[in-house]
Amino acid sequence: MKNNLEKSIYVSQPYLPDIDEFIPYLRQIWDSKELTNNGPFHREFENKLAEFLGVPCISVFANGTLALITAIKVLGISGEVITTPYSFVATANSLVWNNIKPVFVDVESEFCTLDPEKILASVTSKTSAILPVHVYGNPCNIERIAEIAEVNGLKVIYDAAHAFGVNYKEKSICNYGDISILSFHATKMFNTMEGGAIICKDSQTKRQIDHLKNFGFVNETDVVAFGINSKMNEIQAALGILQLKNYDIVVEKRRGITQKYREGLKEIEGITFLPEAKEANSNYSYFPVFVDEKIYGISRDQLYNKLITKGIYGRRYFYPLINEYTVYKNSPYSCKSELPIAKRASESVICLPIFPELDLKDVDYIINCFNDFSK
Ligand SMILES: Cc1ncc(COP(=O)(O)O)c(C=O)c1O
Repeated sequence: MKNNLEKSIYVSQPYLPDIDEFIPYLRQIWDSKELTNNGPFHREFENKLAEFLGVPCISVFANGTLALITAIKVLGISGEVITTPYSFVATANSLVWNNIKPVFVDVESEFCTLDPEKILASVTSKTSAILPVHVYGNPCNIERIAEIAEVNGLKVIYDAAHAFGVNYKEKSICNYGDISILSFHATKMFNTMEGGAIICKDSQTKRQIDHLKNFGFVNETDVVAFGINSKMNEIQAALGILQLKNYDIVVEKRRGITQKYREGLKEIEGITFLPEAKEANSNYSYFPVFVDEKIYGISRDQLYNKLITKGIYGRRYFYPLINEYTVYKNSPYSCKSELPIAKRASESVICLPIFPELDLKDVDYIINCFNDFSK
């Protein structure tokens, strides 16, 4: 027995619809034998997603990383791109896969998103774009980033992998910047097992993206781009259609858990969490807390390990920083600048379990552990 709940609680658990609801979709795929290549569910999912999110054009992908690699490619970006070290490694790897140098810049301390003034200070003649991340689903400083991009002639690609369903100033967060990407990975709050999407502004760009994700084919006999195979298959698309129907239930459950964490942890000295975003709805995708060792009494890593002894498996998203991974340190992309705010966040963060089927009693149990460990 690991804890008084007799089970392990992981940071996330994928939401899945009732299997009986999914079987008719599978039967349709088996009957039609259309498994991939822009099949009927793929087309339906794209249409439904565009309407659901309120975006002009969307192209779905096998996963978020391939969506990001393709988004960078379709914009024709080269040279250097300013990005955040405080993200999942796919953000920077996608640049490297396009032969682009990621230039890591520090984040601001309120939401841990790229600090616009530090972006500005890092622009050089080689900079062609900015790749910010709406980390944990909270909006970056969109207006200031747009100003900096405009003045310096830069493109903006938003990694919105965490921001499914988030609206900023009453429109989808994916409508800002030149292009945005989403991830529908199993750990994300909206999942198609694996999956992702690019959101763009016009149908001509969508056409180019659709060619790129299908080897560059424009028709049966011609290839017009050095494309890749990053198509979403029919099973993923069918699951996505079904997941959209249950989205509101998922958000509501996550909202309840978030509220309980906020209430239960707010009095614990040395534990802080992010404020609510301004002018944006939350999708409650993550619940990161930050540990101040001097006040709380034990370090983040001690807390992380003590939680494991109680069956609670948080995750240190995002530790280490991307620039601290071996491959980045030993490469032409190694980062020479100090990134103190990202470093502090990275060394103090733990993301706590949050998923629709997490029982509120389990949340109480987690909060009690935080109280016990501080004594
Ligand atoms: C910020 C960020 N960008 C990109 C990705 C890549 O998405 P995927 O796992 O769907 O390839 C992820 C997560 O997995 C992510 O968290």
